[in-house]
Amino acid sequence: MRIIQANDYDHLSELAANYLIDKIQTNPAIVLGLATGGTPLGTYKRLIKDHELYGTTYKNVTTYNLDEYVGFLPENPNSYHAFMYDNLFEKVDISTENVHLPNGSAVDLVEECKDYEARIEGAGGIDVQLLGMGSNGHIGFNEPGTSFQSTTQIVELAPSTREANARFFGDIREVPNQAITMGIATIMKSKEILLLVSGESKNEAMRKLVEGEVDESFPASVLNNHSHVTIIADKKALSGVTLR
Ligand code: GLP
Repeated sequence: MRIIQANDYDHLSELAANYLIDKIQTNPAIVLGLATGGTPLGTYKRLIKDHELYGTTYKNVTTYNLDEYVGFLPENPNSYHAFMYDNLFEKVDISTENVHLPNGSAVDLVEECKDYEARIEGAGGIDVQLLGMGSNGHIGFNEPGTSFQSTTQIVELAPSTREANARFFGDIREVPNQAITMGIATIMKSKEILLLVSGESKNEAMRKLVEGEVDESFPASVLNNHSHVTIIADKKALSGVTLR
């Protein structure tokens, strides 16, 4: 794992955006795996600015998002569909037919999981997967204890994850108990992974990721087994972490 140190959140966002812009310009038909949460927001803002100022085009870019809440229609303002359209897709020239998120309101969720997995494979796999990390080490919505062999699946959200995400809802009772998420094996099949980690609240998770064992009790630790991972982390996230 290559670790790039950023001074602060702004710097992290700038480095991440530049990284992705370079990938998109090198391969305009790139397949990107995208993430939600607070961490990638600054990156998305910069991708939009770059598109407006310098015209980097998303016309031939395909995207697959990591996850979606179960039971939410795409129109639900708290859905990850809405999050992605509000914070990125509506503001660049991507074609909606190239945008993919799991459908959390599918009638047959098991079928939807299989189908999502097949769609990713059909696109030739993900070239670059953007990831955030929960403070309990979750990636996508794969909570501690998830099998490293897991593919796209329905999961129960940990109470700590529901609490952390309640800030987007206003009331924790509104946060769903379940989500549909790419599995750990799905994420690991990506050719390349870019993980963003920011802030003191991720400090302990960052330490476990870098210094700890590779173990299913800490999902992000699996990234140690991938041959092409770049981590961009800010000083607060890295404070006290011994880099190998
Ligand atoms: C959510 C998302 C994850 C994200 C994580 C961290 O649970 N499903 O994909 O990485 O939160 O979020 P944040 O970046 O807001 O800390």
